[in-house]
Amino acid sequence: EKGGFDHFMLKEIYEQPRSIRDCMRGRIYPEKGLVQLGGIKEFAGKLKNIDRIVIIACGTSWHAGLVGEYLIEEYARVPVEVEYASEFRYRNPIITEKDLVIAISQSGETADTMAAIELAKEKGATIFGICNVVGASIPRTTHAGVYTHAGPEIGVASTKAFTAQVTVLTLMAFYIAQQRGTITESKLIEQLTELNEIPELVEQALKLNDHIKEIAWRFKDSTNCLFLGRGSSFPVALEGALKLKEISYIHAEGYPAAEMKHGPIALIDDEMPVVFIATKDSSYGKVVSNIQEVKARKGHVIAIVTEGDTEVKSMADYVIEIPQTGEAFVPLLATIPLQLLAYHIAVMRGCNVDQPRNLAKSVTVE
Ligand code: F6R
Repeated sequence: EKGGFDHFMLKEIYEQPRSIRDCMRGRIYPEKGLVQLGGIKEFAGKLKNIDRIVIIACGTSWHAGLVGEYLIEEYARVPVEVEYASEFRYRNPIITEKDLVIAISQSGETADTMAAIELAKEKGATIFGICNVVGASIPRTTHAGVYTHAGPEIGVASTKAFTAQVTVLTLMAFYIAQQRGTITESKLIEQLTELNEIPELVEQALKLNDHIKEIAWRFKDSTNCLFLGRGSSFPVALEGALKLKEISYIHAEGYPAAEMKHGPIALIDDEMPVVFIATKDSSYGKVVSNIQEVKARKGHVIAIVTEGDTEVKSMADYVIEIPQTGEAFVPLLATIPLQLLAYHIAVMRGCNVDQPRNLAKSVTVE
């Protein structure tokens, strides 16, 4: 059942070219510049009139929501807020009929997310779900939704479900943009053509496995680790930190790179690994300066860079080169090496990667 892999987690990491492809199948038509989402089609007209989108989720699904915030605001030009379901439900949130709530849940059974949906529903919002498990409680409660089609996820640490959630949010951003007329047909053709190539690029990123294993060996005995990124790579940093802490029990934190100087920089010494997402996009120059700040304090820098990068390579202790893609799709590629890094470190530390201590696959109690 593990298909020749040592753990479900590794199998699921390697399934991502397929799961991302399955998630896009029948939904994008790059040559026509068209996105079709049958599950929310009925609400296409309503999308023209919404004032705001509120995304609710927990854990990894909340990180996917943060990536979605960048994409939806960028392309559909609708304000987006991303909330922890557990906080949202207990603070008398301001929600009206003009709001669209998007609930994200792999299992479709998370108690806090379920309760947050019920509350938003009572207040008259339209609720969309993004779920993986077909027919679970959440997709049965929402008004409409889009399944991620990642297939069963057995490893407790979410991997392929996360990239599928990000893929659905990317599709939703383009779909909403299409309905609201905030994206041109030529731009959509260009973006969808690039998105369509992501499964092959994920396949290439998986070839970095042996190199990542060497890096893992070097840092397996660390007690702390920082993950830094800017823009939509900030939630990727949060997700990288969560993967490492939950399966290897190394204390890890994700931060927006620029926030480092407001506190976490005090942690940096010659023992501290700092993982940067430093791909060639609009925040590249700023991230380069943040890397210099870490090197000046003798931190160990592991940088995820775009293939062919030379500038970061000259500063970082280790670089992981991922294929070039459009800025919108970097989260889908940059996540892969972080999953592999967490996996190898956890295995080297003798941890039970598929079933980390104290964690359950679906959290049906609050
Ligand atoms: C982390 C992880 C958890 C879940 C969270 C929400 O790897 O799996 O943080 O993401 O418990 O679960 P769902 O998405 O099922 O609502």
